[in-house]
Amino acid sequence: MEPMELPGPKARAFVKRDSSVISPSYPRGYPLVVDHAKGSEVWDVDGNRFLDFMSGIAVTSTGHAHPKVVKAIQEQAAQFIHISSDFYHPKMIELAEKLNEVAPFDEAAVTFMTNSGTEAVETAIKLARYHTGRANFIGFTGAFHGRTMGAVTFTASKPTYHAGFYPLMNGVVHAPYPNPYRPVLDRKTGEDYGETVVRYIEDQILEHILPPDEVAGILVESIQGEGGYIVPPEGFYPALRKLCDEHDILLMVDEIQCGMGRTGKWWGIEHFGVEPDVVTVAKGIASGMPLGACLARQSVMDWERGAHGNTFGGNPIACAAALATMDLIQNGYMANAAEVGQYTLDALEEIKARHPSIGDVRGKGLMIGVEFVLDRKTKEPAKDLCQRVTDLSFERGLLTLSCGKSVMRIAPALNIKTAEIDEGLQIFEEAITLAEKESRL
Ligand SMILES: Cc1ncc(COP(=O)(O)O)c(C=O)c1O
Repeated sequence: MEPMELPGPKARAFVKRDSSVISPSYPRGYPLVVDHAKGSEVWDVDGNRFLDFMSGIAVTSTGHAHPKVVKAIQEQAAQFIHISSDFYHPKMIELAEKLNEVAPFDEAAVTFMTNSGTEAVETAIKLARYHTGRANFIGFTGAFHGRTMGAVTFTASKPTYHAGFYPLMNGVVHAPYPNPYRPVLDRKTGEDYGETVVRYIEDQILEHILPPDEVAGILVESIQGEGGYIVPPEGFYPALRKLCDEHDILLMVDEIQCGMGRTGKWWGIEHFGVEPDVVTVAKGIASGMPLGACLARQSVMDWERGAHGNTFGGNPIACAAALATMDLIQNGYMANAAEVGQYTLDALEEIKARHPSIGDVRGKGLMIGVEFVLDRKTKEPAKDLCQRVTDLSFERGLLTLSCGKSVMRIAPALNIKTAEIDEGLQIFEEAITLAEKESRL
């Protein structure tokens, strides 16, 4: 496929204007300036068409501008836009009831609504301290939980997120995330690598650093997102749950990227047969309307009136969009994510067989990571090549997004069709072929 001339003249002009009025801190992947989008297709201001494999960082779960979501937003906007969480409205209650119905634990779920993922994580941190009366936490390397002061302390995917912002929150110690492709701890014979990590927490962190009865919670992404789309080994969560139970520590799972049907189940943690105590949600919950939530077991969300609140949380339009989104996910899109996800994983395995730069293909449902390496034996990350694949894909009409050091995340809308996957993977493979040639792999 012939590359497009990107950015086009209109996009160039917008990027120039943006650079003088918008905070320079935004990461910005490549110069995509969106005009409109529908389903898994996006058009830029110069009329160029793109296929979307990243859905606005795993957010537009029902595709762009799904008619049912648009209708729900329009109807709610005409009815009323805001009342604040100091008062009541039906959509907020209906949404909390729906979340209770699908929550990944048997006990009743109580929900606090937020405006973003990071605010959902802040809520989880504050709730854990309040409920347990303990101050400390355990997090994981490679994690991404957000950028506000509490959440960013747990975030440990890149030092950039901490540079210039110390001192962070007190009382957070990190353990290595159980990455089966890149283990950093020695496994005992017969031990699952997930169990090795939990043994490290017991033998190193709880033995040498944190008194277990002063640990409020362990915060973990069920399947790690920004750190590299990493699926932990089977033994990890059962061992972690056991450890939490032994010391009355809350198991807090961040489902912001892997939840809401993306992995073919409502929650990433459901793949591991373990029930958490606290769950954070955002991104895909409302198809792009800003909404987050922190769900907890009823016995855990026991704080007093006034202990925590916000102005915009549970905004009626965001709740209406979330209800429409969850209905679509439940009635077909989650099953599609499982089926088309497996189809995509199989196709990527075939692509891997043809390309030495692909070291690993992994994932669940439509949360798939493709890790690029310079050498399959040494597993040295091919960072530049990964960036080149992103750029070459963009020029050929495919929107992708990298994560970790050299991982491409495939995180399209949950209703993407196999024909669209085929079209996107053809561009993706062409980009890999060209990038490999350029770097003589
Ligand atoms: C797992 C996870 N937690 C938290 C966040 C933070 O969400 P937000 O950017 O909405 O604050 C993200 C965002 O990428 C995420 O992937």
